[in-house]
Amino acid sequence: MARELTEVGVVGLGTMGAGIAEVFARAGLSVTAVEVTDEAVQRGREHVVTSTDKAVARGKLDPADRDAVLSRIRFTTAMDGLAVAELVVEAVPERLELKGQVLATLDRVCPPETILATNTSSLSVTELAVATGRPGKVIGMHFFNPAPVMKLVEVVRTVVTEPSVVSDVEALCARLGKTDVTIGDRAGFIANALLFGYLNHAVSMFENRYASREDLDAAMRLGCGLPMGPLALMDLIGIDTAYEILVTMYQQSRNRLHAPSPLIKQMMTAGLLGRKTGRGFYSYAGRDSAEVV
Ligand code: 3HC
Repeated sequence: MARELTEVGVVGLGTMGAGIAEVFARAGLSVTAVEVTDEAVQRGREHVVTSTDKAVARGKLDPADRDAVLSRIRFTTAMDGLAVAELVVEAVPERLELKGQVLATLDRVCPPETILATNTSSLSVTELAVATGRPGKVIGMHFFNPAPVMKLVEVVRTVVTEPSVVSDVEALCARLGKTDVTIGDRAGFIANALLFGYLNHAVSMFENRYASREDLDAAMRLGCGLPMGPLALMDLIGIDTAYEILVTMYQQSRNRLHAPSPLIKQMMTAGLLGRKTGRGFYSYAGRDSAEVV
């Protein structure tokens, strides 16, 4: 019988972490949401406010529930606040060392029964698990962007994840209104392993000037019925995140499909990170919309 988790935490309030905190709060859970600085906490909060406003505007959230959702999230810079959590999801940037440090800190702060979940999209959950003294309680919970909208969570169990932890997390996904797929620990899991070869190929077609960004995106939207084209999706995911994911998958698979197109690294170095910095393959928020190459 799965435990019903009610007190949860999220560490890292970037695009994914803020979205995950919102998903939890919208499902009625009590959330402690942690970032390193007051400014980052504020940005995370604004992200949730904007997204819940949008949900109200689209008729997905009752205006009366909006304030209740926000009131269920305690935004803080204090990791100690997570001492009450039954499950914590870390959603800090996609670097093994950083995620390992965060999980080791959570291991010190949280009671021994607390489940530590990572939202990693490509790193080894097993390697992250052994950064803690409780590898059996560590699991992958990979949400998709935008987290409040996308219906899937990839639940990643390692060879040492306790079966009760898997069933608690699967039951939680159902309460969040998500469909879960439970899989083993392999770079990119299911979705990113399939998606990123395609995205990388699209970047290389653009880089080689085979097709314009608009034509590439229109082809996949209108020809294949996808909600957005590959370059618009790269901007949504974030060019830096996409780069880290490709590098990790390439290191594991040596599949040339995952060798990042040089343009991705160049854009990352130049700070063209997509929507989050206002410019990627496209420009956002009224800035000029010149192509990047
Ligand atoms: N809360 C709740 N629902 C929302 C919402 C919000 N904040 N924002 C939008 N929605 C709902 C809308 O109501 C609408 O629902 P409906 O179809 O039932 O009417 C639906 O989402 C689509 O909304 P819109 O048509 O208004 O489109 P938007 O422009 O707002 O958003 C999009 C579009 C949801 C981003 C859509 O283009 C899409 O699905 N794109 C593909 C995203 C994708 O592929 N994500 C996965 C990336 S890979 C990943 O995340 C893995 C990681 O490891 C990198």
